[in-house]
Amino acid sequence: MMQARAGRSNQEGDKMRSFSRKPRGDAFAQFKDAFAMKIQCQIAVAASLAITSILHAAGESPVDFVKQIKPILADRCVECHNSETLLGELNLQTRALAFRNRKAGPVIVPKNAEKSMLYLVLTLPPKDVKAMPATGHRIPKDEVNLIRQWITEGANWPEGKEGALMPEHKKSKK
Ligand code: HEC
Repeated sequence: MMQARAGRSNQEGDKMRSFSRKPRGDAFAQFKDAFAMKIQCQIAVAASLAITSILHAAGESPVDFVKQIKPILADRCVECHNSETLLGELNLQTRALAFRNRKAGPVIVPKNAEKSMLYLVLTLPPKDVKAMPATGHRIPKDEVNLIRQWITEGANWPEGKEGALMPEHKKSKK
């Protein structure tokens, strides 16, 4: 210990010298390591992106009208858009009725959400008179996106009972 303390200044001198002698090598080594790390990270990120996109593509199935769209329309829209309450000349009880000609133009343009009033009215600012639903809270964004995707995929809407919607008040009478 005593010796170590005695030789302190010498050691420090060594340290200083070695410090001034080595930095280039060390910095280069550090740079190499950092560079290798960066490349490894990039490879890892690219690989994980590729994997997620493969999984995503494999798991992505078309929107199912009966399971995913019908509940939204039944819950939030058909109350004002049925054969008795035909607001905006729009009846959403069946596919045939929803696609019927209206003076104001088509409500659903399959494969073209940007031309489909059914989608557009959900994206209007809430203060707009045409923003839907006319009452109650807005449709959540993920559901609006689902409707958009459903239209983009061709707006499949089965005929018959499966695709038929009933307003709540009619349901409870039955
Ligand atoms: C409380 C009643 C009410 C509810 C609920 C409602 N609407 Fe409407 N809807 C209206 C009225 C009123 C109009 C007519 C507005 C107009 O012509 O300016 C209309 C018109 C529309 C139109 C036609 C717009 C046009 O320019 O021709 C679409 C499409 C529409 N609604 C979709 C929906 C959708 C989708 C839902 C559910 C998310 C919904 N509505 C819920 C009352 C309602």
